[in-house]
Amino acid sequence: MMVDYQKKEEDILVGLVKPQGKRILEVGCGEGRASFMLAKYAEHYVAIDNDGNQINKANLRIPLELKNKIEFKVASATNIPLSGQSVDAVFMLLSFHEVSIQEQGAALVESLRVLKSGGRIVIVDPEAYPVDSIMAICSAVHSKLKYFDHSVIVNHSKKVIEKVTREFDLKLNKEKYDVNWQFDDFNDLKNSVIADFPEIEWNDNKKIILADIIRGVVKDKEFLRPITIPDHMEVTVISK
Ligand SMILES: C[S@@+](CC[C@H](N)C(=O)[O-])C[C@H]1O[C@@H](n2cnc3c(N)ncnc32)[C@H](O)[C@@H]1O
Repeated sequence: MMVDYQKKEEDILVGLVKPQGKRILEVGCGEGRASFMLAKYAEHYVAIDNDGNQINKANLRIPLELKNKIEFKVASATNIPLSGQSVDAVFMLLSFHEVSIQEQGAALVESLRVLKSGGRIVIVDPEAYPVDSIMAICSAVHSKLKYFDHSVIVNHSKKVIEKVTREFDLKLNKEKYDVNWQFDDFNDLKNSVIADFPEIEWNDNKKIILADIIRGVVKDKEFLRPITIPDHMEVTVISK
């Protein structure tokens, strides 16, 4: 299982989103991994994802102490079920670049609609050209097993952010941070990647290709127990 063994991620995300006592919207929350980290600081936390399975899993994982302030909803980034100017921050973790290319601009404009004046949109996305990280493995899985170029999509999302912020004359800040993920061993890492791509039919041949991809990235760390591998995150903070 993927573990942020230095436990840095929560502090970094709290520092970026600043949820303390605020109303927060998370877009593309998946199973709620980051939602639970941030909701405990917030006054109210709404997390949406357009994948109903992810939202079902997130709902099953809500800790008792967060039940009265966190809401998971099935909704699209382009049609957020909240009124205008109703949240202090919008947070997207590894989700903005996954919104379809045709909808990314509309999704950002929709986030601006629900954001209060003085609020912030925090977008965390991967590097476009990863080399030594988990994202390098995922990117190679995309190109070798799903036949599309992940870098083109990530690059496109960064251009959309710049275009929309320019059009709305908003302030934009960029930062970077690393998270170091730890896996028990090579097999644990391989199984985590397989779990991240449920849409792929993982036959033996594809598992061999995946093992080669992982070896190409982890290199001499292959036989380490545990294996530590970074993720290099690129953050954009848009202020309204
Ligand atoms: C890589 S996952 C990240 C999940 C979570 N933020 C995390 O870091 O664990 C990207 C998520 O974005 C969601 N997503 C993609 N397009 C979306 C859209 N148009 N509206 C809402 N969610 C979307 C996907 O369903 C997926 O759960």
